Amino acid sequence: MSKASSPPPAEAAARLRAEIEQHNVRYYVHDEPSITDAEYDALMRELQALEDEHPELVTPDSPTQRVGAAPLAEFGSVRHAVPMLSLGNAFAEDDVTDFDKRVSDTLRGAGLLGPAEAPRYFCELKLDGLAISLRYEDGVLVQAATRGDGQTGEDVTANIRTIKAIPLKLKGDVPRVLEVRGEVLMNRAEFEKLNTRQAARGEKVFVNPRNAAAGSLRQLDPRITAQRPLRFFAYSWGEVQGLARTTSDRFDEPVPGAAREVSTLPHDTHGEMLDWLASLGLPVNVRYNHKAEGAAGLMAFYERIGALRADLPYDIDGVVYKVDSLPAQRVLGFVSRAPRWALAHKFPAEEATTELLDIEVQVGRTGAITPVARLKPVFVGGVTVTNATLHNEDEIRRKDVRIGDTVVVRRAGDVIPEVVGPVLEKRPEGAALFVMPKACPVCGSAIEKLEDEAIARCTGGLFCGAQRKQTLLHAAGRKALDIEGLGEKVVDQLVDNGWVKSLADLYGLNAIKLATLDRMGQKSAENLVAAIQAARKPALGRLLFALGIRHVGETTARDIARHFGDIQRIMDADEEALLAVPDVGPVVAGSIHRFFAEPHNREIIAALAEKGVHPEAEAAPEGTELAGKTFVLTGTMPTWTREEATRHIQAAGGKVSGSVSKKTAYVVAGDDAGSKLTKAQELGVAILDEDGLKALLGMA
Ligand code: IVH
Repeated sequence: MSKASSPPPAEAAARLRAEIEQHNVRYYVHDEPSITDAEYDALMRELQALEDEHPELVTPDSPTQRVGAAPLAEFGSVRHAVPMLSLGNAFAEDDVTDFDKRVSDTLRGAGLLGPAEAPRYFCELKLDGLAISLRYEDGVLVQAATRGDGQTGEDVTANIRTIKAIPLKLKGDVPRVLEVRGEVLMNRAEFEKLNTRQAARGEKVFVNPRNAAAGSLRQLDPRITAQRPLRFFAYSWGEVQGLARTTSDRFDEPVPGAAREVSTLPHDTHGEMLDWLASLGLPVNVRYNHKAEGAAGLMAFYERIGALRADLPYDIDGVVYKVDSLPAQRVLGFVSRAPRWALAHKFPAEEATTELLDIEVQVGRTGAITPVARLKPVFVGGVTVTNATLHNEDEIRRKDVRIGDTVVVRRAGDVIPEVVGPVLEKRPEGAALFVMPKACPVCGSAIEKLEDEAIARCTGGLFCGAQRKQTLLHAAGRKALDIEGLGEKVVDQLVDNGWVKSLADLYGLNAIKLATLDRMGQKSAENLVAAIQAARKPALGRLLFALGIRHVGETTARDIARHFGDIQRIMDADEEALLAVPDVGPVVAGSIHRFFAEPHNREIIAALAEKGVHPEAEAAPEGTELAGKTFVLTGTMPTWTREEATRHIQAAGGKVSGSVSKKTAYVVAGDDAGSKLTKAQELGVAILDEDGLKALLGMA
């Protein structure tokens, strides 16, 4: 646009500000950015240039003024006009039914609830950040304070102004005074990025998003806070003034400590109040906020949110139930610091602190050495944890974890427990650094770490008992030779007794010998021998996968088996020949070639053949009717297990996937089929039962 046709600078600045503010809302409130970060930065630069040229146009609520203030020497204190309260906690269903009963009884007594009526609640997420009170006067953000002791908090206005989710100016019909309460938090993904950045600069890394959010807000230099990805959601309010009261006169009587004491409110339910806050431009968590009735409604919300907790972009530590009606809240009142009309229903904590007693190392199938933390038992994520992974040596250095430290342990969902980091304030004198052993604790071979790898490895290969055990367990797995009854306890004894040195030795075991093992009866010994003998003719791909070659997963093994057709050709293939297999790249090709270049690995194949183990060639998928078709299995089939069905489908050239999409050719549904069946019906995907599948495979 040429200068001549540009709007007057004041107008251009106002337009840019409105546009930037709109993008802030899209990004931080609705999580739906419509422009790239670069485009956003360009808008900011344009506004900055305009304001530099016309300093008289700068307004305090301009997005360029979010980071303005110089570093503080200390935070001032702020007395909250209306105290910031805390919430009563519930941990079990009984606590929730008790709460609902107390609420019902009180409201019935007050004539606010009919005999057959259940109380109506407003349900929210309990965000795991820190509580903040924002004070707007005539729609302009004038002060922001932390909760502090509930009566007096710290003045963090300059820092809060840097949070783009928080409007510097409200829109619409603004009240004279509005104190908004809510939570400042950090998304997990943004927290991870921040930590990576901090570590790269040699600066402090944070143990969790909550600490990172709190640390960022408690910065004396707002320019640092401005670089931290903080977010905000409003869930309550304090003082509200300057509004025509639209509700009935039930608010008249003041209750000490209650927000209503100094307030006139435009609505008479919590939900409507939040809608009103949203209409003023404040971020409200509309996506998950939900209305429910009675204890059953509350429990249903708790269960639903519990199931999606891990998928949320931020941490929550529970849900919050609030009686929706404000007149009802008033009747219910407060006990000490917490309202009787609200309840926090906590999830099992995903993090806890405990003592790190020692760091030992574990040897995996490929020799990978994993440091494992031995912990003083601690209840976290719903179970008692005594061991947690520390991943690798660099990770221990990066986190600065030392033996003797008090550490934060995290167990979220079904994820393996991990040590998050030390609590530095509690570090005892003489806390010891971890030193990676030079020799494998199991076989004594050298431990080696390649320069471009994070993982140290035992160089013992199958000479190492630990690797041998893991290799056997892997080979016996369902996706490999599928030998039922060959579990950890048995494998430990077979290797420790020296009975099994390689895969081939398995096939020489007899029931009389096996029955002498610990906790092994005659019958189970016979069953195990039968299971081993049944695995004499594995599909070639399964045998290849069973060998546990690095980088060779189940699918790759099958593709290679189909391509070459027999084991000798695979053993003799050079890297170039291996690269001819679709989806096989240099890493896989190199790994297979190196594996079979080792004489002792070739000996394993020879020994297997001697024991009568002969893999069967896999049907080439080309040309068969099912080639490349995707199947999804759901529910329980009358005679086949899922593994069996998978094997037959794959043998016929089909693929098996875990989720239904438009690309799914067939869904095979057994008893108790769930959402996958519904999805198949919605998408019009063909549905088969076991008989239908057998017919399709020509096995009926
Ligand atoms: S309401 C009078 N709602 O939980 C009620 N608090 O344990 C005041 N919190 O300090 C709080 N999510 O930091 C409320 N949806 C939510 C919340 C929430 C998180 C925090 C808040 C408060 C603490 C109380």
